[in-house]
Amino acid sequence: MTTEPGHAPPLLTVSDFSVVYDVEPPVAAVRDVSFELRRGEILGLAGESGCGKTTLAYGIQRLLRPPAVITSGSAVLHDEDGVDVDIARLDPEALRRFRWDRVSMVFQGAMNAHNPVMTIGRQLADVFTTHRPRMSRSERTRECAELLDLVGVGRERLRSYPHELSGGMRQRVMIAMALALKPQLMIMDEPTTALDVLVQREILQQISELRKRFGFSVIFITHDLPLLLEISDRIAVMREGRIVELDDAETIYRGARHEYTRTLLSSFPSLTGERGGFVRAHEGQASAQARPRPALAGGAR
Ligand SMILES: Nc1ncnc2c1ncn2[C@@H]1O[C@H](COP(=O)(O)OP(=O)(O)OP(=O)(O)O)[C@@H](O)[C@H]1O
Ligand SMILES: [Mg+2]
Repeated sequence: MTTEPGHAPPLLTVSDFSVVYDVEPPVAAVRDVSFELRRGEILGLAGESGCGKTTLAYGIQRLLRPPAVITSGSAVLHDEDGVDVDIARLDPEALRRFRWDRVSMVFQGAMNAHNPVMTIGRQLADVFTTHRPRMSRSERTRECAELLDLVGVGRERLRSYPHELSGGMRQRVMIAMALALKPQLMIMDEPTTALDVLVQREILQQISELRKRFGFSVIFITHDLPLLLEISDRIAVMREGRIVELDDAETIYRGARHEYTRTLLSSFPSLTGERGGFVRAHEGQASAQARPRPALAGGAR
């Protein structure tokens, strides 16, 4: 579990994956995407709006519906017990179990997706009722309380309704739900975009700590490249359905190989602008420990 992500065996292998939206005219949303996700790593997936990030994430888990069509490729999860699971070959029941057990997802805009008339404790407990039907009621309550503590919401909120929580807390509850069954992979699609920078940072730190503790891998999707530089081990940059660059976060920060990635980076003033603290503070630090911390530059706000 504590193997350095850079040297860990892969958890997921995605090969030649393509998705087309069969509309008029057709949209080739994901084109021949191949990558390996290592066990325990945080892989950032960046790229401008519409480049295909969400489609890829849904496609890997077979969550897409028509008009989306997977036209090529495979996604194989190398299970902890040594079995390779080709996700496309799972029958609907196995796929349903697989999705929460092995792979969970925090959806784009999820923090507004809570059921408004159910306490968050009930909503969390539902995950266990559905997927761990033999779990006793008291065990369920204990698990839910522990999960809320784990994500920094606190068990005293079990009986709260979603509207009684801040956006940040609601998002943490979503993360708690995704963590509930201790998956091997969490896919997070813009999980913090709607939150202010301070809350965003706290949540990211928490995800990072939880990842170390439980050893799961994360695919973290956002168009916010500086944010990814801060939390990712490696970053994949998508453009028009393709991965145009995939490299260590450090390498991307130091000098992205691809012109497009450099353009994306330069579009964030916090990295290159007047304050410039980020760049100056990290000059000469080349080790993996000296991971860039853009959000800290000039003080978080
Ligand atoms: N149901 C659909 N029907 C037709 N085209 C779609 C559909 N859903 C997505 N698309 C198109 O597929 C492409 C990829 O969309 P996708 O939502 O995956 O991008 P994204 O990178 O997640 O964008 P964002 O950063 O805005 O979330 C876009 O051109 C989008 O317009
Ligand atoms: Mg998206």
